[in-house]
Amino acid sequence: MADLLIVDDELSMREFLHVFFTKDGHVVRTAASVPQAQKFCLESTPDLVLTDLRLPEQSGMDLLRWLRQECPDTQIIMMTAFASTETAIEAMRLGAYDYQIKPFKVEELRVVTEKALEKLTLIKTNKNLTEQLQGQFSLSKLKSKSAKMAEIIDLIERIAPTQVNVLIEGESGTGKELVARTIHEHSKQSDSPFIALNCAALPEHLIESELFGHEAGSFTGATGAKQGLFEAAHGGTLLLDEIGEMPLNIQAKLLRVLQEKKIRRIGEQVEKDVDVRIVAATNKQLKNLVSENLFREDLYYRLNVVKIQLPPLRERPEDIPLLAEIFLDRYSKQMQCEGKTFSPQALAVLMEYDFPGNVRELQNCIERSIALSTTDELTLKELPEEISRNDNDSTNRLLVLHSENFSLENRLNELEKYFISQAIERSGGVKTRAAKLLGITFRTLRYRLQKLDLE
Ligand SMILES: Nc1ncnc2c1ncn2[C@@H]1O[C@H](COP(=O)(O)OP(=O)(O)OP(=O)(O)O)[C@@H](O)[C@H]1O
Ligand SMILES: [Mg+2]
Repeated sequence: MADLLIVDDELSMREFLHVFFTKDGHVVRTAASVPQAQKFCLESTPDLVLTDLRLPEQSGMDLLRWLRQECPDTQIIMMTAFASTETAIEAMRLGAYDYQIKPFKVEELRVVTEKALEKLTLIKTNKNLTEQLQGQFSLSKLKSKSAKMAEIIDLIERIAPTQVNVLIEGESGTGKELVARTIHEHSKQSDSPFIALNCAALPEHLIESELFGHEAGSFTGATGAKQGLFEAAHGGTLLLDEIGEMPLNIQAKLLRVLQEKKIRRIGEQVEKDVDVRIVAATNKQLKNLVSENLFREDLYYRLNVVKIQLPPLRERPEDIPLLAEIFLDRYSKQMQCEGKTFSPQALAVLMEYDFPGNVRELQNCIERSIALSTTDELTLKELPEEISRNDNDSTNRLLVLHSENFSLENRLNELEKYFISQAIERSGGVKTRAAKLLGITFRTLRYRLQKLDLE
């Protein structure tokens, strides 16, 4: 059974073919003009279109061209009373399956139709096979081709609908926040809020009031009462990002909330019930922080009911071209310059590079390259220096001890500048991320930027 569309301006012909093909068990729609046919095709793609050549306004040939663009798999058979070899050849050239001259023998029409439908089945099977071979795994925005990520996607699908707490570990830019959002999206609470707190971005006393809220006047600066993030996320998911940076004092309070499922605003006596799923993320190995007594072991076990360890991009190079294409598509749409492709050399260099800033670095790099490019091809020229360079001249220069005016102090400053500006560029100018890449705190980075006059 197939979905057929008959296009003919003659009512009797439409009726006849409708009855004829319906008897064969097909679902048949009929249209009297090209615009009407197009409307039907957009509503649902037909398997086969039988169209008259001469139609009012636009012709069957126009419809054929349009279908090749909009419904490339749909098979097309042309019908006409005015045969000429040229139109026949033209229709076939444009991709019609066959050409029938009116008045046609119905038996012949039936055979041609069945053959065209067989061709469609082949095309579809082939497509499915190719998709399976390419093996793309994806959960909403989370895309990957790698076996490791396939396991993670599978795990996310299984645990998302449960209420368990999840710990996500992975280097900066590997997709921890995206995974956290995906878990929320696939949970039973996806209609409730998803709220994220970056524990590294706030001083201790603010983390506490952010999380639990406070009453008016409970500390200096607390002018009005404030609802905490636990209350705001009630019924939904709370992402505690950079959980490794959470001060020990707050860790103790967090543990209490997780055990008792109750919170109390700072300066308040009454407790409120809260029901929140916690997803924690960190670019450190939390277990190591536990052994260094920087993270509470009991809290670690509360958070780490399920662990997701995100592999760095360099350990899944097969994702580089896939993600590069996805970002190319996304940003060229945004910048209204669709149709760009990567030169083979540019792709090869991207795959060789080790991406210390992971997916985010790749993303920034593609966005920047598109903005810089003036042609339809993205080449080595548009890639950032650190990716495209083969020779290390500029870095080597920093490492030579020469006798003229050498100053260790100046040289170390230059090296520091070199790494800091690289980190800032890679993190798209976001200083908290740059600090993470450098393995220093945001405060240290700010101090060094001032010292080196890089602000
Ligand atoms: N598999 C993926 N498919 C598509 N986009 C991805 C994928 N992984 C990451 N991204 C994108 O890369 C960027 C960085 O991801 P995200 O912010 O989740 O990383 P992160 O691990 O939280 O980084 P950080 O440690 O710096 O906070 C985001 O824009 C995200 O959408
Ligand atoms: Mg993050």
